Amino acid sequence: MDKREQEKYAEQILRLMQLIVFLVFVIIGVGIWLVGSYQHQNDPATLLQSTIEPDSNGLFTEAAREAYRLKLADSVKYWQAPEQVPDNLKSQINYGKELIIHTSHYFGPRGRIKPNATNGMDCQNCHLEAGTKTFGNNYASVYATYPKYRARSGSIENIYKRVNDCFERSLNGATLDTTSREMQAIKAYINWLGSNVKKGQKAKGAGLRVPKFLNRAADTLLGRKVYVAKCQSCHQADGQGKMDTEDVSFIYPPLWGSRSFNSGAGLYRLSNLAAFAHDNMPQGVSFKQTQLSDEDAWDVAAFINSKPRPTKDISKDWPKLHEKPFDHPFGPYKDGFSELQHKYGPFQPIKEKWMELKKTS
Ligand code: HEC
Ligand code: HEC
Repeated sequence: MDKREQEKYAEQILRLMQLIVFLVFVIIGVGIWLVGSYQHQNDPATLLQSTIEPDSNGLFTEAAREAYRLKLADSVKYWQAPEQVPDNLKSQINYGKELIIHTSHYFGPRGRIKPNATNGMDCQNCHLEAGTKTFGNNYASVYATYPKYRARSGSIENIYKRVNDCFERSLNGATLDTTSREMQAIKAYINWLGSNVKKGQKAKGAGLRVPKFLNRAADTLLGRKVYVAKCQSCHQADGQGKMDTEDVSFIYPPLWGSRSFNSGAGLYRLSNLAAFAHDNMPQGVSFKQTQLSDEDAWDVAAFINSKPRPTKDISKDWPKLHEKPFDHPFGPYKDGFSELQHKYGPFQPIKEKWMELKKTS
């Protein structure tokens, strides 16, 4: 090999090495950029600034859901129960609270006032922390919004009627006399709780928060899996919950069967049950720290409400068909969808049809 050829080879090797070094830099650069942009996309601060949109399937990524929750939770001042009980009403309000927490002690199977007047559940089983928990079906807005028109009865209802509704449906029992000491105490407690909410307004975090609709029907088989994994340890495999040894009240309330809420109760509507479960169950979670995905919540609600429970004659409910909720599981309906679809969804098509009907009427 002469000198010229040697130089040529050396030059080619140098070029090759330059190319390799260049490629290595490119690869490292692209790698850093990818990792960086991935982290940026999933950085809660970035997510909070962007409007978080669902993907083409209508679903949010887990990170986006979490960021959205944090955003809501931190930007909103949620209602809290007042701290001071007025002296002149103290004993009545405290008695009302006691009745909400330990309803069964007074009206349950061994109730002190009227045994077997209810299924043995406590108001607090569903109105958590004595009706004060954010999105735990609290009573924040009751005083501010009652008396009000309710579509279920098609009439103006006062608090007595609303409380007795839960006695008859959620507690599958008998109504209280509106002049009784107990009803008066329950009313006094609920009124006091809501006394810091402006008349006519809904408190932030009141009642329940419905999870995002699925684009399919809720699935009882998937729901059973959620139930076994996350609910059964307390509510039991047969869904009957667990009574204390004296048969006075439930340690874990039933989710279906003869001691559960009846078919006319609010929780028999899938949106209410899914909402309650999503933000409050398994016991101990809060709307800021949930364990169920939206899908889990709808599916487990479907599983629970596919099980047998006491029935209630509700033929007089929803006298105006166009005011019946989208998830009321009993016909007739004005929209042509089946009872099955009204019970389990998908609900979006029902809502869309309603919009159409509204336009043409
Ligand atoms: C099995 C669960 C359950 C039990 C037990 C229960 N409730 Fe309810 N209650 C609900 C649900 C769900 C709603 C909301 C229903 C709806 O909006 O359709 C509700 C609504 C109410 C409301 C109206 C709240 C509002 O913001 O308009 C009052 C008042 C009420 N319940 C009182 C009581 C009282 C008092 C008891 C006990 C005697 C009781 N409930 C027991 C499930 C229950
Ligand atoms: C660690 C025990 C525990 C687990 C696990 C649990 N729950 Fe509960 N659940 C309770 C207790 C206790 C109450 C009553 C709350 C109270 O009185 O403060 C309750 C109340 C309820 C209620 C309202 C009352 C009723 O009986 O209708 C529903 C609905 C419910 N749970 C559904 C679920 C679902 C769905 C799951 C699983 C995703 C679940 N729970 C997991 C303990 C539990």
